[in-house]
Amino acid sequence: MNRSFYLQLVNPWHPAMEIPDSSQLAAPHPDYPDILMESRAAQALKSLLARLDAFDRIVPVSGFRSHQQQQKIWDDSMKENGYLFTKQYVAIPGCSEHETGLAIDLAANAPDIDFIRPDFPYTGIYGQFRALAPSYGFILRYPAGKESITRISEEPWHFRYVGVPYASIITNRGLVLEEYADSNKRSVS
Ligand code: DAL
Ligand code: ZN
Repeated sequence: MNRSFYLQLVNPWHPAMEIPDSSQLAAPHPDYPDILMESRAAQALKSLLARLDAFDRIVPVSGFRSHQQQQKIWDDSMKENGYLFTKQYVAIPGCSEHETGLAIDLAANAPDIDFIRPDFPYTGIYGQFRALAPSYGFILRYPAGKESITRISEEPWHFRYVGVPYASIITNRGLVLEEYADSNKRSVS
């Protein structure tokens, strides 16, 4: 996979174009072998969890999803939660970062984990994870205050692998991926 794969913008106007095949997927957490990410992203997350010795406290909830799986999540949420909720927290099928294998939803390990809105706090080991995430290639993809740009509500649990050093550049500049993609477009044109 090349640099443009890891930096791809996926949102309602930019569908997921390049989908890894199964040989390019791997599990970032050994206790959750069915939750997969693109293999470089998986390795980066695994290294970060190992560095924090956090495999027992930080668990993956959802990683790679096929288009059909994203469609089912959308349909189920529409039935259970309605359109207003669903459009805030579920990407339009075909336009989810989860379909690229570059996104991961994380939770604090607990008996009951909400699949769509898992609890991933800002303090303690979770805060340490957040502080280190950019140096391992991860950005918090849907921060508060950027909803008018991302069109997704704040998601403290959804991390997106973009690679090193881009995650640090994006985080330090306080940008979301839409803004970073836009600034790059302007600087090359
Ligand atoms: N929860 C994010 C927006 C997704 O469904 O991709
Ligand atoms: Zn997610």
